[in-house]
Amino acid sequence: EVIKAGILGATGAVGQRFIQALENHPWFEITSLAASERSAGKTYDKAANWRLESKLPDSVKDMKVVPVDPKKVDADVVFSALPSDYAKTVEAEFAKEGFVVASNASAYRMEKDVPLVIPEVNADHLGLIDVQQDKRGWDGYIVTNPNCSTIVMVPTLKPLMQFGLESVTVATMQAISGAGYDGIASMAILDNVVPYIGGEEEKVETEPLKLLGEFDGTKIIDADIEISASCNRVPVMDGHTENIWAKMTQNPTPEQVREAFLNFNPGLGDLPTEPNPVLIVRDEPDRPQPRLDRNMGNGMGITVGRIREGIRYTVMGHNTVRGAAGASVLNAELLHKLGKL
Ligand code: A2P
Repeated sequence: EVIKAGILGATGAVGQRFIQALENHPWFEITSLAASERSAGKTYDKAANWRLESKLPDSVKDMKVVPVDPKKVDADVVFSALPSDYAKTVEAEFAKEGFVVASNASAYRMEKDVPLVIPEVNADHLGLIDVQQDKRGWDGYIVTNPNCSTIVMVPTLKPLMQFGLESVTVATMQAISGAGYDGIASMAILDNVVPYIGGEEEKVETEPLKLLGEFDGTKIIDADIEISASCNRVPVMDGHTENIWAKMTQNPTPEQVREAFLNFNPGLGDLPTEPNPVLIVRDEPDRPQPRLDRNMGNGMGITVGRIREGIRYTVMGHNTVRGAAGASVLNAELLHKLGKL
């Protein structure tokens, strides 16, 4: 049977990645594209300024964009790429009306009864869905994925937990596609670095504690790790690069860390969007690089290199695929596999 998928914020930078991720998907079929009043009523090709490297799929080109309204959207699952302030009210309306909401927005990520999930890291946190439905009385529910920089980093932190991970310092070099449609237009950043991305450092410092925390059946007990982040916007189109310094009580050698990354194989089973391997380890001294490595595993692979004493290393992943649309789709695939969608 086909699962009907809607996209909320379908015209934006992440919305377009949702369309790309769902094109020819074996389980999901796009049945609704929703955006602001500005776009509603127009065909998708007129409403959206398609910017991706692949062609705008014929199957969505002539679809009429509808308003972001549960009564106007025909779907079993809605993927949300809405601005966070707006997502707060809208996602609740959809969940209340019985939709499964797989959200890339930050609005609900840190709410205690809402799962914040990277399938390879904390699939068991989906148990919070029952807690959420009990508490809020919704027929549907909201599941979130983390911020793009968090997603690129945390699959490398998970295998370091076995060494007694105590503290993490991270400096990010983030692509402009993460700034949304307006950010992409502002290639004015060329020849520059902007050492500030509103709200980003707080997300990178708090979301991993929930993701790496333990679910006791009713709540998440946050991981006891200290994280310190500095986030920078750099003139790269796609792909976030992050330098990481990780302190562990057991002081593993770079070789032990490399082995732990190579052995990190969460084995989710046959999810269509699942990368294999999750972590790609490169030994060349000048990798990873966005232009060479961001499309590994259809953009879902995370590339790590420069593993040195300290422990220091560099990680890179596609911010709007692995870090956004692909992350929400992977969450929905897992929900389907678990019989929750
Ligand atoms: P629209 O293109 O009609 O403005 P981005 O992150 O790239 O800026 O994209 C934001 C997405 O969310 C777009 O699809 C945009 O639609 C949509 N959006 C933004 N604000 C609203 C709103 N107030 N109501 C509905 N959709 C919105």
